[in-house]
Amino acid sequence: MRMKLNALKNLDAFPRAEEHLLQKTRSGAIVSIVGLVIIATLFMHELQYYLTTYTVHQMSVDLKRGETLPIHINVTFPSLPCDVLSVDAIDMSGKHEVDLDTNIWKLRMNKDGHIIGTEYLSDLVEKEHTNHKHDDDKDHQKAHELGLDQNAEKMVKDVRNALANGEGCRVYGVLDVQRVAGNFHISVHGLNILVAERIFEGSSHVNVSHVIHDLSFGPKYPGIHNPLDGTSRILQGASGTFKYYIKIVPTEYRYLSKDVLPTNQFSVTEYFVQIRESDKGWPAVYFLYDLSPITVTIKEERRSFLHFITRLCAVLGGTFALTGMLDRWMYRIMEAVTGSSSRSVLR
Ligand SMILES: *[C@@H]1O[C@H](CO)[C@@H](O)[C@H](O)[C@H]1NC(C)=O
Ligand SMILES: *[C@@H]1O[C@H](CO)[C@@H](O)[C@H](O)[C@H]1NC(C)=O
Repeated sequence: MRMKLNALKNLDAFPRAEEHLLQKTRSGAIVSIVGLVIIATLFMHELQYYLTTYTVHQMSVDLKRGETLPIHINVTFPSLPCDVLSVDAIDMSGKHEVDLDTNIWKLRMNKDGHIIGTEYLSDLVEKEHTNHKHDDDKDHQKAHELGLDQNAEKMVKDVRNALANGEGCRVYGVLDVQRVAGNFHISVHGLNILVAERIFEGSSHVNVSHVIHDLSFGPKYPGIHNPLDGTSRILQGASGTFKYYIKIVPTEYRYLSKDVLPTNQFSVTEYFVQIRESDKGWPAVYFLYDLSPITVTIKEERRSFLHFITRLCAVLGGTFALTGMLDRWMYRIMEAVTGSSSRSVLR
């Protein structure tokens, strides 16, 4: 029996403490405090790390079909009155998105950016846009050579007034389009050419400076970055056409709670062409979008609890071992420096 107990004793992983460990020393106290501080800091860090979720990105081929693509717009044109602005949307099938459920509003803004009126843009696409198409310009001009009718005259006067007052316009809302490549543009194309000529006296005077507050293709998820949000393009010289080439990446965001948020990210490149007096066209801001065939799934994940415990043990154990070592060295150094006399004092 006694033999067996002795054999068991040999298995004790905690042999008797070395001499210095049995003494309370000032250096030991300092090392202990430092150790505790380190442990507390590392523990907080580990806890914080454990509590934050992380995301996993996966890619796959987009299998969605027949859904619509929501385009959220919020753009301010500080130098164009609402009366002259129109929004067109055309998809690759050549279809004008007139019949789709759209919700675009125009806000009139004064020089200081205060809202002075609102207007629902029901005529999303200029009525009979095709009649105004550029190949019909000749007919068009002929019909109007006799002069503008009274409504047009009144409009020209109003718009010129608004321009003189520095009136601007904010266009915002949601455009639901087919999930195929297409474009939408905000321009003065809704105006009849003669009226436009009378108002601006040349296409290079159409100041299409704009501030994009929001341009996105679906709801926002945590961490999304819409590259055009908060950008502004202010024209200094002659006017021109802005083109934004947008590549949409369908994205699905899966929350920890298993909720799924279907949305889209995008990347964009842009391009500006100055207009020349000889050009037929009028300045505009085009957004040309295209869909990527690859969809991204972003999944929120929680860190493993066992992992947390493991790391915690490593941190605690490691710190203990380290401070123990420090303590031993300090003790030795103190011993060497002060000699044995002070040791007896500290005892
Ligand atoms: C559009 O952007 C402006 C400026 O950031 C903001 O004040 C306004 O609320 C936005 N409008 C909508 C409908 O989001
Ligand atoms: C266009 O409008 C912006 C904003 O109002 C203004 O800062 C800029 O000077 C104008 N550009 C020209 C060429 O008039």
